[in-house]
Amino acid sequence: MCGIVGYLGDKNTKEILLSGLKELEYRGYDSAGIAVLQDGEFSIYKAVGKLVNLEEKTKEFITDKFAVGIGHTRWATHGKPTELNAHPHLGESSYVVHNGIIENYAELKQKLQEDGVKFLSQTDTEVIVHQFEKNLLACEDGFKAFSKTISELEGAYATLIVTASLPDTIFFAKHGSPMLVGVNDEDEKFFASSDSPLIGLAKEVNYFEDGDYGYVTKDELVIYNKNAEKTKPNFSQLSTDKLSAQKDGYRFFMEKEIYEQSDVIADTLIGRLSDEEIVFDEIDKNLFDGINEIKLCACGTSYHSALSASYMFERYSKIRCSVEIASEFRYRSPIMAKDTLFVVISQSGETADTLETLKMAKRANLKTLVICNVDNSSMVREADACILTRAGIEKGVASTKAFATQVTVFWMLSLYVAKLRDSLTTDELKYQIHLLRETPVATKVSDEIHEKIKRLSKRYLHGHGFFFIGRDIFFPLALEGALKLKEISYLHAEGYPSGEMKHGPIALADPELFTIALLPEHLLYEKSKNNVEELSARDSTICAISAKEFDKADDFIKINPCKDYMLEFFEMMIVVQLLSLEISIRLGNDVDMPRNLAKSVTVE
Ligand code: M6R
Repeated sequence: MCGIVGYLGDKNTKEILLSGLKELEYRGYDSAGIAVLQDGEFSIYKAVGKLVNLEEKTKEFITDKFAVGIGHTRWATHGKPTELNAHPHLGESSYVVHNGIIENYAELKQKLQEDGVKFLSQTDTEVIVHQFEKNLLACEDGFKAFSKTISELEGAYATLIVTASLPDTIFFAKHGSPMLVGVNDEDEKFFASSDSPLIGLAKEVNYFEDGDYGYVTKDELVIYNKNAEKTKPNFSQLSTDKLSAQKDGYRFFMEKEIYEQSDVIADTLIGRLSDEEIVFDEIDKNLFDGINEIKLCACGTSYHSALSASYMFERYSKIRCSVEIASEFRYRSPIMAKDTLFVVISQSGETADTLETLKMAKRANLKTLVICNVDNSSMVREADACILTRAGIEKGVASTKAFATQVTVFWMLSLYVAKLRDSLTTDELKYQIHLLRETPVATKVSDEIHEKIKRLSKRYLHGHGFFFIGRDIFFPLALEGALKLKEISYLHAEGYPSGEMKHGPIALADPELFTIALLPEHLLYEKSKNNVEELSARDSTICAISAKEFDKADDFIKINPCKDYMLEFFEMMIVVQLLSLEISIRLGNDVDMPRNLAKSVTVE
C-alpha cells in the first residue's frame, strides 16, 4: 500500500529518490519522505500530502557526490498522516523505511521503552530502527545487528535501513511485501517496491523472495535467503514501458487488482483477528452502546457490500439492519431513530450522495461510522468513527479489491458486534475467525480458472441480456457481478434473487438470455438449483458457478470445494469479476476507463 525506494551511487540521489517516489505515488500519498547520507551527514525531509510538497521542501537540497538514500510514500495504517508518522523513521543515527505491518510491534516497543528508548511516531515501523540500534550497540557489527533484527520481526514487511556508522551500505529485507533491487555497470544500486522506478536506471533486476535479506555496497550485493543461506541474485531484464510496469505485467489495472485481492484481504485482516474475538483498535467499544439498529448507506459497489453486510449483521450479530441507496435516502425524509448506528461505505470517501447522507445523520445526532479505503477523505473526517479497508489505491474504475475488503471488514464487524451482544457462542466465533483466516487463500486466482473463463467468455459477447442470480448473501454478489459486467462490457445485465425470477423476469427466458447462476454448496443449494432448472427448462443459456457438478448448465465454472458458504462467496466473487473482465477485453473495450464513468463521483 505504500511505496519504497532506495539508491546507492554517485549520481543525483535526491532526484533519483524523488522521481522513484513519483512512480509509486499512486500506491499511497498521504505523506512522503527521504533520508540521504552524504559525507557522513544525514539530510532528512518529510512532508504531509502529495509528493509535490516534498519536492517543494527539498528544492534547495543538493546531492552531487556519492550517497546512500532511502525514500517512502505512505498510505497510513498505524497512526495518522502526519510528518512525525511519515517515513523514514529515525533511531539515534539510522533511518528506516518500511512497507507492510509489524504485527509484534507493540511487544517490541514496550521492551524498548522499558530500556529508555523514546518513540516519536505512532507507527509500527519505528520499532525496526530502534531494535536495529539496540542490536548494533550489543554486537557492533552492522549486518549481524540487522539479521538479528529481522529475525525478531513478525508480520509482513519490505524494509531498508541506512546507518551513519556504515555510510556506504543499505540493508534490506523482504517478507510478504514486494521489493526488488536493480544494478547497472556503474556500480549503482537501486531499490523499489515495484518495477517502475527502476526503468531506465537499472540494467537488470533481482526480485527478492520472501525471507530474503542482506545488504548492498558499491561493490557488493549480498543476499541471504529465509534459511540464512547465502544465495546468488537471480537477475532478469526490466520492461521498458512504465505504464505496463505499474501494471506489473497485467493487461489492465482491473486485472491486477483482481489478482491483488488475496494480498489486500490479508492486509485488511492483519492485527484484527485474535483467537476468540475481532480487534478493532480504531473504534471505541462504546460506539455500540444503546444501539439497536444499524443503517448502512452507500452507492454502487459499496452499496452491494452493504447489502451483503445486512445478511451478516442479522445472522451473526442478531441486530436489526437496513440498507439504503444514498441518492434515494437523502431526498426521502427518512426517520432517524436515536438508537441507530449510521454507517456509510465508500471506496473513495468522496462520493457526494453518500457524504450528504452522512451529514444528515450527523445533523440528526446519530452515531456515525465510515468504512472507507481512503484515509483523510471527506467521509473519514466527517464520521465519528472509521474503519479503513486497506485495499491500497484502486485504479480501475470498476471496483474489485475495494469490494472484497469492504465485505471482509463487514464480516469482521458483524462478529465484533456478535461478541458485544453475545449472539454467537465462543466456538461459533472461533470457527468464523478460522474461516476469515482462510479468505486470502479463497481469493487467490488460479491459472486454471482464469484460462477457463478466458475461453468461455467468447460465447457471451451478444444476446439480449444477462441475469446474475443468487440467494441470500449471494444475491448482493449477483448484483455486483451484473454491475461489473455492464460497467465494462456495455452489455445489459441485471442481478436478481434466484427465487424472484418466476415472478416476472422468467418471461424473458430464451437461448439468447444468459443466466449466470451462483450455486453455493453450503447455502440453500437445493432451492437455488430448482430456480436454475426452471430457467433451463425454458431454454435460457445457463452458466453455473459452483463447487458441485451441475448437469443442467450449458457452461459450468467449478470453484474449489470450500467448507463454508462465506468462502464460496469469495471464490465466486473472483469468477464474476474475471468473467466481466474477459468479456470486456474480447469486445475491445478500455477496461480501466469505461465510457461515461468516473472513479470518484463527487457530483450528485
Ligand atoms: O467511492 P465509492 O465507493 O463511494 O463509489 C461508489 C460508486 O460510485 C462505485 O462503487 C461505482 O459503482 C464503481 N464504478 C463500481 O465499480
